[in-house]
Amino acid sequence: EKAGFDHFMLKEIHEQPKAYRDTMRGRISDDGKSVQLKELTMSEDYIRSIRKVHIVACGTAYHAGLVGKSVIESLAHIPVETDVASEYRYRSPIITPDTLVIVVSQSGETADTLAALREARSHGARVLAITNVVGSSVAREADDVIITWAGPEIAVASTKAYTSQLIAFYLFGLHLAGVLGSQERATVEELIAGLHALPEQVEQILEQAPVLKQVAESISHHRSLFFIGRGVDYAVAQEGSLKLKEISYIHSEAYAAGELKHGTLALVEEGVPVIALVTQEALYEKTLSNIKEVKARGAHVLAVANSGSEHEIAKSVDETFVIPRTLPLLTPALAVVPLQLLSYYASLALGHDVDKPRNLAKSVTVE
Ligand code: M6R
Repeated sequence: EKAGFDHFMLKEIHEQPKAYRDTMRGRISDDGKSVQLKELTMSEDYIRSIRKVHIVACGTAYHAGLVGKSVIESLAHIPVETDVASEYRYRSPIITPDTLVIVVSQSGETADTLAALREARSHGARVLAITNVVGSSVAREADDVIITWAGPEIAVASTKAYTSQLIAFYLFGLHLAGVLGSQERATVEELIAGLHALPEQVEQILEQAPVLKQVAESISHHRSLFFIGRGVDYAVAQEGSLKLKEISYIHSEAYAAGELKHGTLALVEEGVPVIALVTQEALYEKTLSNIKEVKARGAHVLAVANSGSEHEIAKSVDETFVIPRTLPLLTPALAVVPLQLLSYYASLALGHDVDKPRNLAKSVTVE
């Protein structure tokens, strides 16, 4: 059942290339020029009437929603807010009929996410669900559904469901752009080509797993560490940090790189590991200066960088993990993979139950 892997989590990490392909299948035109989400029942007129988007989810699905915000804002130019479902429900969000609410849930059964969906519908908003389970409560109650075809996810720590949610956001963003005409044709084609390249690029990352195993073993001796990044790198940092906490029980915090010096920098001392996501070319200089701040306090920095920029970045850090080159918006679908492997190997090194971490359940059906 684990197909030769020691744990479901490792199997599911390796299933990501397939999950990407399956989630894209049939949704991109044969000529590679447009995205067609034929399952959507929302009309083009409705899409043109959307004035804001709320993305609501919990845990890892929330982290996918943070990337989703960047995707929709940059491709469709519609303002997006992303909320944790348990907060959204009780903060009296301003939901109007021209608000599209997107709920994201692997299981489709998470209590707070389902309640947020119901809250949104009661205010007359349309709800789009991104879920991995056909026929789940969320899928049944939403107006529209985009299924992520990641296949069953058994490990408590979500991996392939998260990355398939990213693919769903890219496809939906491109679908919106197609209707709204908010992107140049060349940009759309470039993004579609970038999406098609992702599965093979993930395979290239998976081949480098032994390097990450070594890094994970050294990290596993530490009590606390930081993940930093800007923009979508910050969203990925948050997911990497959650993954590590969840299965290795090592305390970590994700920080927006520019925010460190407003307090948290006080915790950085000699030898503290800092994992810096540096995939956004436009922000290289800014993030590098934050890396210098932590280096000056003795941090040991591992950078996750794009192929092509690694030599420049290597000068400022202790170690560099290189991911294949892709478009800035698509880097989360690659950059998260080494972080998944890091947490897997850290948990393994510490002898924890990787697939069933303490205190956690796969599906959280209580509030
Ligand atoms: O099934 P859902 O996507 O609604 O679950 C949401 C969270 O409970 C889930 O992502 C949780 O954070 C994972 N254990 C993270 O790996």
